Amino acid sequence: MLRSTLTALFLAASLSASAQQAQPAYAWRGCMIDVSRHFFAPSFLQRQIDVLSAAGINRLHLHLTDAGGWRIEIKSRPLLTALTAWRTQSDWDAWWVGGDRQYATPTTPRAYGGYYTQNELQELVAYARARGISIVPEIEMPGHSEEVLTAYPTLRCLQPDSATLAPNTGDLCPSAEETYALLRDVLEEVMAVFPSEYIHIGGDEANRTAWRNCPRCQAKAKALGLSSTDDLQAYLIGRVARWVNARGRRVLVWDEAAKGLPVDDGADTKNAVMVWHGTDVAERLLAQGYDVILTPADFCYLDYYQDAPHTQPRAFGGYLPLRKVYALRPESLKADKGKVLGVQGNLWTEYVPTEAQAEYMLYPRILAIAEIGMKGARRRSWKRFRRYGTEQCIELQRQGINAFNLQSETGQRAESCSPLKHKARGAMVAYHRPYSKYYPAGGDVALTDGLRGDWTHTDGRWQGFYGKEALDITLDLGRQQHLRNLSADFMENLGADIALPETLTLSVSADGRSFQEISKSRLQPTKASGPIHRYLWNLNAPARYLRLQAAPPAGKWLFTDEIVAQ
Ligand code: ACM
Ligand code: ZN
Repeated sequence: MLRSTLTALFLAASLSASAQQAQPAYAWRGCMIDVSRHFFAPSFLQRQIDVLSAAGINRLHLHLTDAGGWRIEIKSRPLLTALTAWRTQSDWDAWWVGGDRQYATPTTPRAYGGYYTQNELQELVAYARARGISIVPEIEMPGHSEEVLTAYPTLRCLQPDSATLAPNTGDLCPSAEETYALLRDVLEEVMAVFPSEYIHIGGDEANRTAWRNCPRCQAKAKALGLSSTDDLQAYLIGRVARWVNARGRRVLVWDEAAKGLPVDDGADTKNAVMVWHGTDVAERLLAQGYDVILTPADFCYLDYYQDAPHTQPRAFGGYLPLRKVYALRPESLKADKGKVLGVQGNLWTEYVPTEAQAEYMLYPRILAIAEIGMKGARRRSWKRFRRYGTEQCIELQRQGINAFNLQSETGQRAESCSPLKHKARGAMVAYHRPYSKYYPAGGDVALTDGLRGDWTHTDGRWQGFYGKEALDITLDLGRQQHLRNLSADFMENLGADIALPETLTLSVSADGRSFQEISKSRLQPTKASGPIHRYLWNLNAPARYLRLQAAPPAGKWLFTDEIVAQ
């Protein structure tokens, strides 16, 4: 307690002194912590509340329910915690990806989990409120509900025979009255514990597959005049939201659940949408009249790597350094400013198994969210903010918070920072096999546009290829040129099924008809190039056409970003 008081005092004085002088730019300055995939003790959350509040965060969104475990005591539905607050192991890859996926009781050997009692949550709410933070509870529906369907299997859809239950797909049956009875029981108690103006009812990533084969869903869709059982998502969200609204609370949903959410109806509804897809989705929803909170994954998902992945502990993927978080510009949205309620950073915790790791992923990136939320367009320059972030990380570490060490950041891949001039830049590329439609990068010009990729294959610069002999291209330099060498970089990330080429050949030609194969060398990656391997062909000869063919091992992807001729 002494330590947290000191932290609060220090940070209040230094972190946000200037921020507190002006009216905050946005009313919502949020931090989400997923306590389902991994469970964190109330003492940990209190410590974060101290730091977050001093930084200017004013909402702590708790993702309380998901397949990873149900984390809130519900007195009228005790099976939720009794049967699904523990699981057979902590490790997400072994438990979820590896397919174990069994729940457990606290006495099961190696059982992992826990839940918050209502008393603990009420104390936490009071603790947060005293520090200017409102705790926003999230109860997932209709998807991400594997644990609910384990504790209460009759909320599953039916098989076509109408007599047996469908397998657990994670989606509640939106056509079973029992579903609504459980949700009412849960939300009644949730609202009694959390005075929050907003209650988050999830709504993301329902897969809806069981609904299509469920006779009860088919009948419900028909009775409601819906063209597809998929639209039962909107029915469920609308029905639950109206019920919550009738109790005087506003509803929040993830963006794919906006359809069905009662929009501002002139009464006091004002439900809001949390946008985790791109800012284009935010623009669309704003145009439709919704209030939005911005938490686009590309800027706000704090479970992504914050530094070059090969230098970091296992994270979810991606690459989201502090600089990128700070580049989020809610003020550049075209819509009515009052409808952008604010910004939020989300810490999903599949790969955040410990409190120390949670702090490492939160700080300093959540400080950037706080700064954007507090100051909007009046924020400090990036250079000044980075200096401030570095100082704060040092001070937080001194206070026993396991902040990331910004001073020793590897930073962006150097080659990706500025365009590269080379002899194949602008060359026409003929694709004899198509690149993946999921990873087109810059399309047909991606491999000769001078732009190298950064540390993640999802950054829009790495072009992806899949399948046997996946990469097969011919570059036309437009005219015969003397070339010293040619090189291509490939990324390796076996966790994401991205491998180096199993075969890789370059052949050159003066006329585009008769090609000569050139032997290559592979340059070992250095510390600064980590997972990125460079292949080089010494030519010292004139050439106009360059044909590059590469095949990944079976079942793997290839990613390359630029074919460079010198
Ligand atoms: C989400 O990331 N599924 C909201
Ligand atoms: Zn159903």
